[in-house]
Amino acid sequence: MSFAADIITLFPDLFPGPLGASVIGRGLSDGLWSLRVTPLRDFATDRHKTVDDTPSGGGAGMVLRPDILAKAIDAVSPYGDPRPRLLMSPRGKPLTQARVRALADGPGAVIICGRFEGVDQRVIEARGLEEVSIGDYVLAGGEVAAMVLLEAVTRLIPGVLGAADSTAEESFEGGLLEYPHYTRPQVFEGRDIPAVLTSGDHGKVAQWRRAEAEALTRKRRPDLLVRKD
Ligand code: ADE
Repeated sequence: MSFAADIITLFPDLFPGPLGASVIGRGLSDGLWSLRVTPLRDFATDRHKTVDDTPSGGGAGMVLRPDILAKAIDAVSPYGDPRPRLLMSPRGKPLTQARVRALADGPGAVIICGRFEGVDQRVIEARGLEEVSIGDYVLAGGEVAAMVLLEAVTRLIPGVLGAADSTAEESFEGGLLEYPHYTRPQVFEGRDIPAVLTSGDHGKVAQWRRAEAEALTRKRRPDLLVRKD
């Protein structure tokens, strides 16, 4: 079973964008994962193809109408679809590598790209949308966020990365940032490769890498070291 991604968006022309390039794009054309893009405007009912309206209670911006978004969701993800329905939003739970792994191990995802000020709360509840944020900053819309999520997920699908590109030791796996890397030349602008890495002692190398990863994580991301259970 391959990973099936559905995107609902006001800007279908943005896709596949970067997802069509490099190993992810090769995985897409090889059928290791699939991408279907549905224009939300197709589900508008008036002559002007309106999908939003003014916020109840007043205020700035526009809000996506629940009825139109629900119709789009039901068209791509009928009742019983096992895939999670994600709404890209700065209000969402921050995306983590653990969530990315879980998504990659699943059947796919239905991803809704928000625009405007927001999405009517009732459709979020009625269609069980899981709000996902890619970070504590605000984008103009969810499309780039959806691409970020899909790039992180699809690179973990077996066969997408070459065998040489192991994902087991990279940052966040094991809860740490990755240790520093070195390659030839032996001396670069007066800087040596740390001697332990050229010692041939694999035990010492592993120990050194672990210590470096821990020190870097403590310095840059102490939050990752705090147990969350
Ligand atoms: N849409 C706008 N900002 C976003 C963010 N930070 N994450 C996900 N979707 C967004």
